[in-house]
Amino acid sequence: MEKSPVRIAVTGAAGQIAYALVFRIASGALLGPDQPVVLTLLDLPQMQGALKGVMMELEDCAFPTLAGMAATDDPKVAFRDADIAFLVGARPRGKGMERKDLLGANAEIFTVQGRALNEAASRDVRVLVVGNPANTNAYIAMKSAPDLSPACFSAMIRLDHNRAASMLAGKAGIDVGTIEKLVVWGNHSPTMYPDYRFAESGGRKLAAMIDDEAWNREVFIPTVGKRGAAVIEARGASSAASAANAAIDQMRDWVVGSHGKWVSMAIASDGSYGVPEDIMFGVPVTAERGVVTRISGLAMDEFATERFAITLNELKEERDAVAHLLA
Ligand code: NAD
Ligand code: LMR
Repeated sequence: MEKSPVRIAVTGAAGQIAYALVFRIASGALLGPDQPVVLTLLDLPQMQGALKGVMMELEDCAFPTLAGMAATDDPKVAFRDADIAFLVGARPRGKGMERKDLLGANAEIFTVQGRALNEAASRDVRVLVVGNPANTNAYIAMKSAPDLSPACFSAMIRLDHNRAASMLAGKAGIDVGTIEKLVVWGNHSPTMYPDYRFAESGGRKLAAMIDDEAWNREVFIPTVGKRGAAVIEARGASSAASAANAAIDQMRDWVVGSHGKWVSMAIASDGSYGVPEDIMFGVPVTAERGVVTRISGLAMDEFATERFAITLNELKEERDAVAHLLA
């Protein structure tokens, strides 16, 4: 292969999401079949044995795109010259918990990893935070990496976007791949606002095809918002394959390109839509080769304004709750 390898770090690499993620990255599903990658896998010291097993299996796949790999328990080693980082490693919630209940347990991980990224990663690194609560963990990592641009960081809201798209496709009786201009606003939590007011399929408005506001408010929004808990209830463990798939989707659209298609990404606010600067807020974007452009100026009606405020207030509270870690 002629291209030089892209260096990709994955944290929590011995965990269940990573088990569904690293093989797809190594196979070319992220960057294409002609782009070699070097994987650096980070996990805790006691997980190094399990990581060795993951590396044995990666080796046994004989992926032509896998140009090298290493395992480590040191974030600075993991992030050395990283072009892309998936921050997955964190505790998942169990039944009856909300994602923000993990803030205490997981926040510290992201100060340490933010500092390590600041010190060791490529200056153009693209960092996707998956570990929950993802938006505020991404905010912590970004604030802990003052030498990197805020544009280097995003949090995953793509799983919610994909969940919303599947549900809308089922309701409208259309192919999920035809849906455009869907938006998930705000936090990866039950307060998120999946919004299909602008969505289209084949040039037709989904809102007109569905035309059922009661379903939107009483079924669609709460079902998408609580889908993670429903998966935990059914599976006894939090989503893994769909989370890994969404991580691939979000990073691929970010670093390769969304080709004009709107996708939802949680990115550091620039003040648009009245969201205070730096809060990691899900918004519609297009992206091309690592550069994200917000879709701005979308109109808010009374209900949208209300939903938007709820998810924004939650993110403000989470930001305030971690302020002491960033002082
Ligand atoms: P898991 O418990 O299977 O794996 C987590 C891994 O992270 C473990 O191997 C653990 O040893 C490792 N880890 C813990 N602390 C670490 C640290 N400081 N450095 C490196 N590695 C560390 O969990 P999982 O199911 O893979 O989920 C991981 C996270 O992703 C959870 O917080 C979960 O809630 C979250 N998640 C987010 C989304 C989303 O849409 N944003 C979707 C699904 C899951
Ligand atoms: C999800 O949405 O599936 C994940 O965030 C896991 C969880 O805790 O809900």
